[in-house]
Amino acid sequence: MSLTIDQPRILDSRADFPGLVTGEGAAWHYLDSAATAQKPRAVIHAMSKALGEDYATVHRGVYARSAEMTLAFEAARRRIAQFIGGGEDEIVFTRGATEAINLVANSWGLANFKPGDRILLSQLEHHSNIVPWQMVAERTGAEIDVCPLTEDHQIDLDAAEAILTEQHRLLAFGHVSNVLGSVLDAPRAARLAHNVGAKLLLDGCQSAPHMPVNVAELGCDFYVFSAHKVYGPTGIGALWARGEILDAMPAWEGGGSMIDRVTFEKTTYAAAPQKFEAGTPAIAEAIAFAAAVDYVDTIGLDHIHAHEAALVTQLRAELGAMNDVTLFGPADAAGIVSFALDGVHPHDLGTILDEANVAIRAGHHCAQPLMDYLGVPATARASFGLYSSDTDVDALLEGIARTRRIFG
Ligand SMILES: Cc1ncc(COP(=O)(O)O)c(C=O)c1O
Repeated sequence: MSLTIDQPRILDSRADFPGLVTGEGAAWHYLDSAATAQKPRAVIHAMSKALGEDYATVHRGVYARSAEMTLAFEAARRRIAQFIGGGEDEIVFTRGATEAINLVANSWGLANFKPGDRILLSQLEHHSNIVPWQMVAERTGAEIDVCPLTEDHQIDLDAAEAILTEQHRLLAFGHVSNVLGSVLDAPRAARLAHNVGAKLLLDGCQSAPHMPVNVAELGCDFYVFSAHKVYGPTGIGALWARGEILDAMPAWEGGGSMIDRVTFEKTTYAAAPQKFEAGTPAIAEAIAFAAAVDYVDTIGLDHIHAHEAALVTQLRAELGAMNDVTLFGPADAAGIVSFALDGVHPHDLGTILDEANVAIRAGHHCAQPLMDYLGVPATARASFGLYSSDTDVDALLEGIARTRRIFG
């Protein structure tokens, strides 16, 4: 098998990722990028430099090193804003997408939901885009509706249109499903939300690594993603919220850095985004996050998308031709292929594949309601990154054949 697209930069990129070899120096067929992506040397270097010769705190030092670090940290915020087409004052650094959703739920949600209000989620959401809404619904008396999926496992926006009422305050949808790779028609979801006066939150964890994202074009009100899935470090992510919404949101965590003036009688808060960043931030991580999006942009998300789409097509065609394999998700899935092999638990498949240096994810993928809907306890999931190749696909297919032989 070989890729027909001419993308030399992508095909050379494997060497940029020291994590793609085993301890013995053999090729490691890493097919779990949807869980977390491997890091290019540029990110490892940026992180090490920020923790090493450049290291100092931000926002409060009077010495030159701290002032420089503050400039670098705020430049990283501008870079992340630019990456998704937002304004720099609209980016809040968080610990990741999970914290970003919890921030919106506990700040905007607590301030805006009242008994009888409704929140529309979908059947395919990650637990991070379910549980925070359940928690805030319990505290406010709001109620949750669940949008079903189409036959090919996309969020069914016709059904959403029929469900939505003036009581709905929020639609919170995965832009791309972490299990199925289904891509949401976000502009339509935004129109549906806005038609009833609701807001749209997009969980962008699986879209930011796989396709160009522009929040203005998507039409959403909130967009969240995690750095570690776009080849950056763990421990940092971003919330983008439309400026006027962010400005009106109350602070959620209190502490240093998020204040204007503190007295025992009354505390006033800094303007957004600082109002939402209590405590010493993840300084080196922010700088390495910016290095990661620089790296991604030098390759180009259009190229990455086309490259991964070719791999998805290839793998789905091979698996689709096997009569003991069930495929989940749509044909145009973004970088992700979930499947089941008859008579073999995904964990057993994952363990046997590991012996051949093929790493897939097996389990419920933090999407138990979706597993219930699919009628399976777990799936096997192969997910691609920009460094993935047809060699990885071949190794996976060989591993499946071997598993079949072992299980008779
Ligand atoms: C769709 C989706 N949403 C949310 C998350 C949570 O991201 P994090 O654990 O980085 O906060 C993930 C990570 O697996 C994801 O894939």
